[in-house]
Amino acid sequence: MEQKILELRQRAADAIKTAANNLKDLDNIRVKFLGKKGEITSLLRGMSQLSAEDRPRIGKIVNEARAQIEMLIAEKNESLKAKELSDKLASEKIDVTLPGRQIHSGHLHPLTLTLNRVKEIFLQMGYTIEEGPEVETDYYNFEALNLPKDHPARDMQDSFYITDDILLRTQTSPVQARTMERHEPNTPIRMIAPGRVYRRDDYDASHSPMFTQVEGLVIDKGIRFSDLKGTLEWLLKQLFGEKARARLRPSFFPFTEPSTEVDVSCVMCHGQGCKVCKGTGWLEILGAGMVHPDVLTMSGYDPKVVSGFAFGLGIERIAMLSYGIDDLRLFYDNDIRFLQQF
Ligand code: DAH
Repeated sequence: MEQKILELRQRAADAIKTAANNLKDLDNIRVKFLGKKGEITSLLRGMSQLSAEDRPRIGKIVNEARAQIEMLIAEKNESLKAKELSDKLASEKIDVTLPGRQIHSGHLHPLTLTLNRVKEIFLQMGYTIEEGPEVETDYYNFEALNLPKDHPARDMQDSFYITDDILLRTQTSPVQARTMERHEPNTPIRMIAPGRVYRRDDYDASHSPMFTQVEGLVIDKGIRFSDLKGTLEWLLKQLFGEKARARLRPSFFPFTEPSTEVDVSCVMCHGQGCKVCKGTGWLEILGAGMVHPDVLTMSGYDPKVVSGFAFGLGIERIAMLSYGIDDLRLFYDNDIRFLQQF
């Protein structure tokens, strides 16, 4: 009997030590040995068959064994609980020292940055900013600018027509006529009109069917060609630095007379001659001129009372020169590696 008790205690101890990997296993082991139908309980029941003198001695041994098993179970219970807690903590661990995920905030597109600079320069000179529709009538896009239907200069700008009379504007110049019409005849105007324009052009390093222009128009009594020249020189110095110079070449636009094409001294070599300016020292930058009397007349202004100058510049071209970009398409490709650089 004693032997049997010792052997049972040993089996219980081994089971608790090796087989109880979690609290549930441990409870099964407890039931197996100490439960109502467990081995210790059945041993105690068997005591009635023992002789009176054996009973107290064996009873003591059984009780001791039970106490030991209970103690081992209690100990194991503690260590399993501690292990479960530390496992849980380990699996749910948050490393508060990890660096945070960086949130990239966007920024303005290089064309918008360039446009904003140009706007600022003219706002400082007291110009207003005007707008006109991108879907324009033939009248404002051409006729009001001294380009009647059969005018050969219309071929200079291959257009996207929607109907015979409606097209995507090929230039921002229609805003000249629209602005004059909004004013009382002969009242002074000093405005720029930025916006998108559309032409049936190829899409290559220097052409795009859509690009951005800024139109300028100044009308007042006694506006002269020298006002135009001074204004443009100021603009170019603001854009490209003090060293920048302007060169005016005679040209033709139907809505200005005389007309001029304006070059800026090369922003790379300052006039020495390099690859960018193809050795000439100059870069073509905008068109301008004195507003044609017929254009004033058509919009209700009197060329005998007022005169004016106008100009049109391309924002893409200015951005390319400011940032040293050699392919226009980069502006529209939306390649983040390009855009991130501004
Ligand atoms: N509208 C012309 C173009 O897109 C540019 C231009 C030239 C605008 C001379 C003007 C100007 O206002 O006076 O080619």
